[in-house]
Amino acid sequence: MIVAVDGPTASGKGTIAHALAAHFGLPVLDTGLLYRAVGYQTQLDHGDADNAADALAACAFPDALLADPALRYETTGGLASRVSVHPQVRAALLQRQVDFANQPGGAVLDGRDIGTVIAPHADAKLFVTASAEERACRRFAEMQARGVDMTYAVVLADIHARDARDTGRADAPLLRADDAMLLDTTAMDRDAAIAAAIAFVEERVRRPS
Ligand code: DC
Repeated sequence: MIVAVDGPTASGKGTIAHALAAHFGLPVLDTGLLYRAVGYQTQLDHGDADNAADALAACAFPDALLADPALRYETTGGLASRVSVHPQVRAALLQRQVDFANQPGGAVLDGRDIGTVIAPHADAKLFVTASAEERACRRFAEMQARGVDMTYAVVLADIHARDARDTGRADAPLLRADDAMLLDTTAMDRDAAIAAAIAFVEERVRRPS
């Protein structure tokens, strides 16, 4: 079974994807991490994330980089969003994601284009979202807990900028697939969102469309 979980930044899609993977006993891939690795490697190479050739060269990042805590930084998320605009970068990362999705037994993948490009044949697709203000509140609380010095206004502005770039790019933009279930978690806590996602996937498994 392949489960596609897409959605904007800080929507909770990663939490939901991991909970689904644990519930159904499937491997999970956070595809955003691949773009984060490319963005961060571009910076390590003193390249420009907006330059396609620099970003493409960084696609040869070493696998060990995927475990680097720096990939989780907000600044790295911004770099990831910038390198993900380049079609050459998306093409370079495509096969790795397709292979993960199509491994025997299936998988859960979360990202922006899983239900539309990477696994359009997925058995269940979720599009997880929440209002920009709610996502900014969650991100801001996370950052405060980690002791990161940042204002709510800056976090909200960053979320708006990321949304605009991820939905506005020409190649594989963030888009809800026609057959994806919309899960708006604005008024939901973590457990309620996970329960709704599991119920949806179980229903899909029982009654495939
Ligand atoms: O999910 P995330 O915040 O870690 O993703 C970081 C950036 O990577 C995101 O702003 C856009 C890009 N991305 C993408 O273009 N396609 C994906 N499947 C996953 C992430």
